[in-house]
Amino acid sequence: MTRTVYVNGDYLPETEAKVSIFDRGFLMADAVYEVTSVLGGKLIDFEGHAVRLKRSLDELDMAEPCTKDELLEIHRKLVELNDIDEGLVYLQVTRGSDGDRDFVFPSEDTKPTIVLFTQNKPGLADSAAAKVGAKIISIEDIRWGRRDIKTVQLLYPSMGKMMAKKAGADDAWMIEDGHVTEGTSNNAYFVKDGVIVTRPLSNDILHGITRKAVLRMAEEAQLKVEERLFTIDEAKAADEAFTTSASAFVMPVVEIDGVALGDGTPGPIAKRLREIYLEESIKAAV
Ligand code: PDD
Repeated sequence: MTRTVYVNGDYLPETEAKVSIFDRGFLMADAVYEVTSVLGGKLIDFEGHAVRLKRSLDELDMAEPCTKDELLEIHRKLVELNDIDEGLVYLQVTRGSDGDRDFVFPSEDTKPTIVLFTQNKPGLADSAAAKVGAKIISIEDIRWGRRDIKTVQLLYPSMGKMMAKKAGADDAWMIEDGHVTEGTSNNAYFVKDGVIVTRPLSNDILHGITRKAVLRMAEEAQLKVEERLFTIDEAKAADEAFTTSASAFVMPVVEIDGVALGDGTPGPIAKRLREIYLEESIKAAV
């Protein structure tokens, strides 16, 4: 089925959507994005994603393409037009184009480019992969130093994912100065003796919207959370581990660098947090 996508004010068949070859998103990765999940035809944590988008734009002195209310309307309309029950809405805003390539930013009156499209993913909540759990490898983190800004510079995370696939695993966690930063497209956690450990927020990692919700829900469920730096060896010696992201919610991790965690199946805390997260988020969806 041909999707209906959104480009700069227009809803169009995907085959008719166009962006300039001079767009800075294309030439310079001068662009930010958000991925919002859809469950039961409704948006999960739209507010969190809208707030983070504004922050990413502000950090890069990029203009806002539209208001938050307009953004919500576009999301909802695309979900409806594409008949999405479970899936994702991808949003990208770029600094636009003034019709040539130049390292200097274009003039202030250059309009940002805004593109949104849906991805239909039936079975996203009742995921087979989450029942098995993910195998991960560790790789060096060689990304730039502003990972808190959700830019489209995703070449290294994509390469990390490919390194994992080549090694017979599902994903990679990245390591900088001896400590785990995050997964290629998710935040990373391990659990030892009932305590959930994850890296604290800084410019080194993306401030995950799912992370924020899951940590709040963990505390409400009387689970202990420690936000601190941790090594891959600590994670390998853990009882269980997991990742969080808008596209996979809470994903149990069952193996790190070939070492099975616990009995090698999804751990009880990861499973419980996944259930709580899905239940609470579906209730609050808009
Ligand atoms: N990725 N860390 C990185 C590097 C990410 O790319 C993501 C999300 C996260 C989790 O953030 P959130 O909970 O807000 O989704 C952490 C999205 C899903 C993606 O690139 O598809």
